[in-house]
Amino acid sequence: MTLRVNRLTILCAAAAMRLAAHDVITTKLTWSRDISRVFARRCVSCHGAGASIPLTTYEQARPWAVDIKEQVLSRAMPPWGAVKGFGDLSPDRALSQEEMLMIAAWVIGGAPEGDPALGPKSIVAPSGKAAAPQRRAIEIDGETTLAHAMVATGLCPLTAAESSKITALLPDGSVIPLVWLYKYDPAMKLTYSFARPIALPAGTKIRASSPVRFALTAPSRER
Ligand code: HEC
Repeated sequence: MTLRVNRLTILCAAAAMRLAAHDVITTKLTWSRDISRVFARRCVSCHGAGASIPLTTYEQARPWAVDIKEQVLSRAMPPWGAVKGFGDLSPDRALSQEEMLMIAAWVIGGAPEGDPALGPKSIVAPSGKAAAPQRRAIEIDGETTLAHAMVATGLCPLTAAESSKITALLPDGSVIPLVWLYKYDPAMKLTYSFARPIALPAGTKIRASSPVRFALTAPSRER
């Protein structure tokens, strides 16, 4: 609810800004100190120096400012395809509300660079640890009941899903939310890793609220 209000405020502010003169800076947020750090965490893994749309320097990002605001407010960027807060995913690549509003406010405020001395000249993606190998343990078309116990480490959608909540109903009656796919496009090629492996006893019912095919992943047995 607060999100809607905030978004509306931003959209009204944006409409008002269009009437104002060009390049009026009305924000204290700057590329150097604030935005470049968000982009390093959230964008440059795909928008690196060699990408078709690189976003690693102020010069590269500035011409895209208005588009960037629209992409992040609509949650089209970064592509994530899942609803935040349903299930326990790690890493969760979706923007936090603070990050989203910070980017929008920076653009609306005139997208200033700020003092380059306060930030890195160019930014690179943090080099994360290589994930341990996972295999697709079981493919599920909408719904299934597990014949054998398994430990699930993640979920990999295989088809598109407009909106589908995937849950595990354990034999003891408890329900574990796994992932809520939202505008998932197979071109995203994402596997959602659970923050902690989830033990699913035999008899667990895995269920998607609307049709989608997906796989549960488990640690690779190699070695
Ligand atoms: C998982 C990869 C990925 C991440 C992370 C990502 N993007 Fe993108 N983005 C893409 C792809 C793919 C396109 C399509 C254009 C292309 O091929 O470069 C795109 C396009 C865009 C466009 C142009 C959209 C249009 O069609 O007009 C903008 C602006 C953009 N991204 C901003 C961002 C911002 C800002 C972030 C971080 C908050 C971000 N992206 C994170 C993959 C990504």
